[in-house]
Amino acid sequence: MRLVEPTAATITDAAQLLLDGGLVAFPTETVYGLGADATNERAVAAIFEAKGRPQFNPLISHVLDATEARRFVQWSATADTLAARFWPGPLTLVLPRLKDSAIALLCTAGLDTVAIRAPSHSVAQALIRAAGRPLAAPSANRSGAISPTTAQHVAESLGERVPMIIDGGPCLVGVESTVLDLTTPVPVLLRPGGATREAIEQAIGPIVLSDALPSGDQARKSPGQLESHYAPARPVRLNATSVGPDEGLLAFGPSVPPGAMLTANLSPTGDLGEAAANLFAQMRALDRPGIGRIAVMPIPEMGLGLAINDRLRRAAADDGTRRQG
Ligand code: TXA
Ligand code: MG
Repeated sequence: MRLVEPTAATITDAAQLLLDGGLVAFPTETVYGLGADATNERAVAAIFEAKGRPQFNPLISHVLDATEARRFVQWSATADTLAARFWPGPLTLVLPRLKDSAIALLCTAGLDTVAIRAPSHSVAQALIRAAGRPLAAPSANRSGAISPTTAQHVAESLGERVPMIIDGGPCLVGVESTVLDLTTPVPVLLRPGGATREAIEQAIGPIVLSDALPSGDQARKSPGQLESHYAPARPVRLNATSVGPDEGLLAFGPSVPPGAMLTANLSPTGDLGEAAANLFAQMRALDRPGIGRIAVMPIPEMGLGLAINDRLRRAAADDGTRRQG
């Protein structure tokens, strides 16, 4: 496995590897992605293999902008408004697949929709541009593990399963993109993420949370969301206001209860953006021998807090599926 700095030469190498059907892990503003040519079925299949994903969940296709997106999906006025406001950035739009869309069928897991986004990270953009293809990319971690926000996380999680990792430093947003389904009369928030519900509603009016849908509908619409992702090896206890001596504490804000074996503070000042950026790295730091359990302080359910709490609830859910995400 090659762990490289982003330079003109390494981007060219990486693009060639992608065009040859290989995998490249690359930074985005949200988390590191495990990329493949989204138009190549076999390359997309290699993503599932490398991640050890038990099922074929649909993947996000990454493009440069709305003009490029229109080549693969049925665009809409709402998509236009959202792309103008949020792209490039952490918002993924689910739109009807164009009949002659070049996106691999495996990439959309047989659905008649495509999830698409334009990342804002300059390295991601350079790679998409150099490859001249949309890039399919889930988070660059083994199935069920916490999403990587540094190149080192990727190397630890995937090792030799990925031939090349481009190191672009730590991800600035730190949680995955928001996934918004635009195929229904009222858009549905399938996954809270880096673009906040409040900002989306400011742009296009009210949206529906997928939690509000019947569970069968949820499963059909966003298969990936039913699995427990982001699982540390240790149990996770939410809404902790006090802490035990065998616990690692994931704190938030200035008033931290004393007595934990180890404490990491998502944001001492209570800033949700800072907390999102620190979330996955700090969960990893607390998930280590000697710690019996990870206790997490309450996080406000607003702005980026929706995405943070969503990931924390999944990390805490020990429902027998926690290793399958
Ligand atoms: O920030 C991100 O979105 C990162 C970076 C690398 O871009 N990618 C990422 O991919 O988180 P992944 O595969 O871990 O999550 C993709 C999510 C899943 O919840 C999946 O179910 C949903 O998007 N999804 C993909 N295609 C879909 C579709 N056609 N309809 C509904 N949901 C879809
Ligand atoms: Mg993932």
